[in-house]
Order: sequence, then C-alpha cells, then structure tokens
Amino acid sequence: MRNSILEAAEILKAAKYTIAFTGAGISAESGIPTYRGKGGVWLETNPKILELSFFLQNPEETWAQIRDKFYRYFGKITPNSAHYTLSNWQTKGFLCDIITQNIDHLHQDAGCHSVHEFHGTLHSLSCVHCGKQYKASTIDMHTLPFCTACSKRRNFLKPNFVFFGEGIPEKAYDASIKAAEKADVCIIIGTSGLVRPAATIPHFAHENGTKIIEINLEPSNYTDSISDVFLAGKATEILAQIDAVM
Ligand code: OAD
Repeated sequence: MRNSILEAAEILKAAKYTIAFTGAGISAESGIPTYRGKGGVWLETNPKILELSFFLQNPEETWAQIRDKFYRYFGKITPNSAHYTLSNWQTKGFLCDIITQNIDHLHQDAGCHSVHEFHGTLHSLSCVHCGKQYKASTIDMHTLPFCTACSKRRNFLKPNFVFFGEGIPEKAYDASIKAAEKADVCIIIGTSGLVRPAATIPHFAHENGTKIIEINLEPSNYTDSISDVFLAGKATEILAQIDAVM
C-alpha cells in the first residue's frame, strides 16, 4: 500500500481517463453530517424513514422526519474546496466523470460537469401517482407536499433520492458503468463503501485494471482490498496537497 501525495499526483498526471467516486465525506466539511460514524445520520435516525414501502404507507408521519434530516441544509450549504478542486481538475482535463452517492448537488454547485448522481437528488421531487416533477425550491416543505396536476388519492410527492427498496436511477447507473469501464484511474473520496450497488463501482473498475487512489479520514472497505494509494486525511486538505504538485 502506497500513501504518498507525490505518487498519487504522478498516477493522476499519467492517466488518460480519471473518474472520481465520492461519498458523504467530501461534503462533511461543508457542514453536512455523514451517514455513519460519529455524528452520522443513521446513529440518531431510524433508516426506516427511507424505506420506500414505509414512506408510501406512512407519508405524513415520515415527511416531517425526512424534511428535518435531509432538507435541513437545503439552500444553506455551499461547496467546499474539495468540490472546487475537482471542478478545477475537470477544467484542466485531469478529471472526466464524477460518480457521487451524495444527493446534495454540491459538485454541480462547484461547477462540475458529468456528475452522475447514483442515489438521486434532493433538488427535485416527483408525484408518486403521476410522476410529475417539481423543483424542491418551489415546494412548501412545512407539510407533506401534494401534486397540483393530478387529483387522485395518494398524489403526494416523494424526493427524488433513492429510498431503500428502490432502483438506482437508470441514467446515472448506465453513465457510471460506462465511466468506470473507460477509467484508468479512479479516485475514491470520503465513502465507507458499505452501500451496494454503489459500492461495487470501484471494485468493477479495479477488476478492469483501473488504478485506485483513496482519500478518507480512516481506512474503509476499499483500503486493504483494492486501493493502490491510500491517503489518510480530510478531503479538502489531501486534494489541496495533490493539486499543489500537479
Ligand atoms: P458514510 O457515512 O457511510 O461514510 C462517510 C465516509 O467519509 C467515512 O468513511 C468517513 O471516514 C469519511 N469522511 C468523513 N469526513 C471526511 C473528510 N472530511 N474527508 C475525507 N473523508 C471523510 O457515507 P457514504 O459512504 O457516502 O445512501 O454512504 C453511502 C450511502 O449510505 C449514502 O449515499 C446513503 C447512505 O445510506 C442512501 O441513502 C441511499
């Protein structure tokens, strides 16, 4: 296992097609809690609220918790320097696609393109009855929002992020697989690698011969299995150090 900034920079500079695979850790320094570990969302929240069948059966009861946990930061958070470094690398041609498990839109807010939102997004909702799409910024979040286009029973809105028991958005899934197939380097940033199928993307890339650089505060599921370079520390700081020698 290698762990030097210089080695990571050399691998990135020599790469023809680099992808990033990101998780909650890259947004932690923007003030959004991660899911697991100290202060994590799942330590104090019952994951049942994101089970699709539970939400569909108990929408009113569940809505307040979803709003308080996931929309609490909506419109109030901004990208951090890790998001901007990735954006800058895309501009310079060092980075192609970003496959993210995050639903916070911070990669795009930092100016990134080719962002594949594997777990969907907080930024829109859809009617569970007719599928009509709504921008979250236009919705009154105080009570369970309803569709204005259809008047059927149970025409409430569901956030467009992936609930447990729901499939991965097809477009994001296909684009992620295509990117992982093309990649000769994958940089994994701030994810525990515990949630499938997302977690399998770096494994899939590794099996195709892709080099893996990992940044995390602590070792993850990937570290001893597929990471060629593991850089321990905060995403903002490690990315800045790599950037300084690129
Ligand atoms: P986790 O909370 O499981 O893991 C966050 C990772 O980020 C941990 O490994 C931390 O050590 C690391 N970390 C924290 N702060 C960091 C920092 N400043 N710099 C670098 N690393 C840092 O979050 P995810 O792996 O993203 O899915 O979770 C995956 C999925 O589980 C989420 O997308 C969500 C959740 O259930 C759904 O809700 C469908």
